[in-house]
Amino acid sequence: MPEAIPTEIDLTRPSAARVYDYFLGGAHNFEIDRRLAEQIAAMTPHLPATMRAGREFLRRAVRVLLDAGIDQFLDIGSGIPTVGNVHEVAQAADPEARVVYVDIDPVAVAHSRELLAGNELTTVLHADLREPERILTEARALLDLGRPVGILLAGVVHFIPDADHPAELLATLRSAAAPGSHLVISHSTFEDQPQEMLDAQRLSARTDTEITLRSRAEITGFFGDWTLLEPGVVHMPLWRPDSPSDPDDRPERFGAFCGVARNDRPVLG
Ligand SMILES: C[S@@+](CC[C@H](N)C(=O)[O-])C[C@H]1O[C@@H](n2cnc3c(N)ncnc32)[C@H](O)[C@@H]1O
Repeated sequence: MPEAIPTEIDLTRPSAARVYDYFLGGAHNFEIDRRLAEQIAAMTPHLPATMRAGREFLRRAVRVLLDAGIDQFLDIGSGIPTVGNVHEVAQAADPEARVVYVDIDPVAVAHSRELLAGNELTTVLHADLREPERILTEARALLDLGRPVGILLAGVVHFIPDADHPAELLATLRSAAAPGSHLVISHSTFEDQPQEMLDAQRLSARTDTEITLRSRAEITGFFGDWTLLEPGVVHMPLWRPDSPSDPDDRPERFGAFCGVARNDRPVLG
């Protein structure tokens, strides 16, 4: 952990960002996070592989967006910086690429700020996906939303319960994005899942950010009327694998659907 722990951290409750960091082999977690992570891992031995698959999907999706000419990214629920961060992938391909990171977790934000110090083309906001207008307003300091943007929501929309109207939050983000913009989503599902995965999901109720598992149809709905890129909304290892031998023979084990869509609304005027 950094020497200065942000004062607003509640050390009596595990945090989703720090549990995720632990699964990815990071060092930015506390005993309380590790205990929950071990408990989840004992119930679902495949889960760390799921987390890595999520990260791999994000990297592949960012590359596809870069190839489509996207040079600015809004990464909401960006997490604690780890291997292959979005700005590293993006700026390796385009040194002028801009990235706004957003996370609700103060530890994730503190580490991101530390890592990004001196990188003028990136910034990090401490904000909640449930306040999309505020995120968009603050992101405009670095991003030009009149031009295509890549909105990245990797492993975060499942932290928004139905009561907080995730479809409306997504609609607000989509409506602010120029034609040519892309939306990347990965989201945990209950479809085709074994009982132990569903039980492990219930453990997330102990964090401040309980997970809501959704169907493929519900997750597809988050893309609204944007055009889904091939192969559509699929289990994570099946989305444009680096090599045909990569996909797992049981891709549903990864417990999440993912997809990428493009705003094909005609340019007005
Ligand atoms: C599973 S991690 C995903 C990290 C990264 N996007 C990736 O795919 O590797 C989910 C992140 O979403 C953050 N998060 C959860 N609820 C959020 C919310 N309402 N607004 C913003 N971030 C949130 C958590 O703090 C955590 O860092």
